[in-house]
Amino acid sequence: MTLKHFLKDDDLTTAQQAEVLELAAQMKAHRYAYRALAGPQSVAVIFEKPSTRTRLSFDIGIAELGGHSVVIDSQSTQLGRGETLADTARVLSRYVSAIVIRTFGDERIAELAEHATVPVVNALTDGWHPCQLLADLQTVAEHKPLKGTSIAYIGDAAFNMGNSTVIAASLAGMHVRIGAPEDYQPAAAVLERAAAINAETGGSVTVTTDPVAAVEGADVVSTDAWVSMGMADSAKRFGDLHRYQLNDDLLSHAAEDAIVLHCLPAHRGEEITDEVIDGPRSRVFCQAENRLHAQKALLARLLQEAS
Ligand code: CP
Repeated sequence: MTLKHFLKDDDLTTAQQAEVLELAAQMKAHRYAYRALAGPQSVAVIFEKPSTRTRLSFDIGIAELGGHSVVIDSQSTQLGRGETLADTARVLSRYVSAIVIRTFGDERIAELAEHATVPVVNALTDGWHPCQLLADLQTVAEHKPLKGTSIAYIGDAAFNMGNSTVIAASLAGMHVRIGAPEDYQPAAAVLERAAAINAETGGSVTVTTDPVAAVEGADVVSTDAWVSMGMADSAKRFGDLHRYQLNDDLLSHAAEDAIVLHCLPAHRGEEITDEVIDGPRSRVFCQAENRLHAQKALLARLLQEAS
């Protein structure tokens, strides 16, 4: 399958995902040896929402690949004054080798990709966070082979991190257990897509409202903030989600050698406790580092395909 853009996790096939993760591991081992953006070629990195990790890891990763990043907040561009994404895509495609964007609805990145003649990368939308999942899978792969490994995702699984975990882990042949209240579970379309992928990869997805059942014996336990960027109904969400907190008690049900992931930023004392995030099973800071390596590998692979 031709890899043109990376808008959601299954824009990569299972084989392409494995290739990117293998290249990411190589890039981590030989950090300054890869120069896919030598020239320097430029990459536009656009933010319509705040970011620490994504902003820095793309900016630094592009420099390490020998390229030049132009990191911009949309509000300081004509996008903030209503210039269309289609026109923006047409113009930027004449300047840069790739466009990375963090935005709101997935229709926004789809419009950008439709009119861009260079690869477009999703740096988080309401629906998906696929670059994060490449880093998550790289982190898991440093612990255990992905195929057959179980990952429990606890809390709000109806948003970008839940969706991307279901699809990316299914592509890798993992067994996904979602532990979330009924209103916080992935949409039927996401679960149907995962079922189709799992028919090929041997992975699986189970969904339960019982956090202990989801975590029982799991090799990896992952969670994310209960109130994502742009959400207003925080009091209701805390009430609905408080029994899904990832604390020592819940983690005691996981496999003895289980690792803990959180994409950060964490809301300590809400979805995860200090004891867990700072504890011996936590891999969250390796996970944050792997954003750098995984995104460098992704950009190199996209540019190879585009050339
Ligand atoms: N995990 C993540 O996307 O972090 P930032 O919001 O800081 O980029």
